[in-house]
Amino acid sequence: MDKIVDIENLSFFYPDGHQGLKDINLVVYSAENLAVIGPNGAGKSTLLLHLNGILRGNNTIKVFGLPVEEKNLKETRRKVGLVFQDPDDQLFSLTVFDDVAFGPINMGYSELQVKQRVAQALKLVGMDGYEQRSPHHLSVGEKKRIAIATVLSLNPELLVLDEPSSNLDPRSKWSLIEVVKRLPMTRIIAAHDLELIRALCQRTIILDGGIIVADGSTTNILNDVTLLRAHGLAPEEKLLKLQADI
Ligand SMILES: Nc1ncnc2c1ncn2[C@@H]1O[C@H](COP(=O)(O)OP(=O)(O)O)[C@@H](O)[C@H]1O
Ligand SMILES: [Mg+2]
Repeated sequence: MDKIVDIENLSFFYPDGHQGLKDINLVVYSAENLAVIGPNGAGKSTLLLHLNGILRGNNTIKVFGLPVEEKNLKETRRKVGLVFQDPDDQLFSLTVFDDVAFGPINMGYSELQVKQRVAQALKLVGMDGYEQRSPHHLSVGEKKRIAIATVLSLNPELLVLDEPSSNLDPRSKWSLIEVVKRLPMTRIIAAHDLELIRALCQRTIILDGGIIVADGSTTNILNDVTLLRAHGLAPEEKLLKLQADI
């Protein structure tokens, strides 16, 4: 099996001195879909932002065997489609078409190829017909789908999603899960939505305080309530009782 992601002893400090990641070791193989779970502030987004070189730590990581460094950034960003948690960070054009076309235009595809890629990407997320809409007037669920389309238009080999279900109502969330599940590429998803993880990822790591504290099959990790509680991912027993008090 091919190593898609290869990270050795990665640490990362933010400019203010805060340590976001501590000695991360992680190998992800092509057939795995990986969930990165952990409480708020665990370092999930920090880790994801390393996968296409937006952030770079002390050690060079490899994605698809390619060191993520200046000279490989273009290639890395074509292969790794990273979708931010907040779609407003990804969508900046006046029309959906322009946002989804941005990557392919930047990569130098012909006008015809750009049109084909936009059409295909929008179809994959069930948003065909939205080309001329303004991204900023869409619902959160629609924006999230368009944000995913902006990376699908580059045919990425790895899809990286940062909290894809945040701010979504249950119907929008499950329809997004359905969309993502149909996509053929390997996925890495940061979330603390355990329903979403169960539906989309076979393997799960728990990050807490910038450290990988658990790594295993999603079933094993999500069934370990003690482990989930220890890292703020499941309520303590006494809090569960609050439900019975109403
Ligand atoms: N730009 C920044 N400067 C300083 N600290 C940051 C910055 N961004 C995030 N952090 C800190 O790094 C830690 C990890 O953040 P983040 O990766 O966003 O966590 P998560 O995505 O798991 O909620 C948090 O303690 C957060 O406060
Ligand atoms: Mg985050």
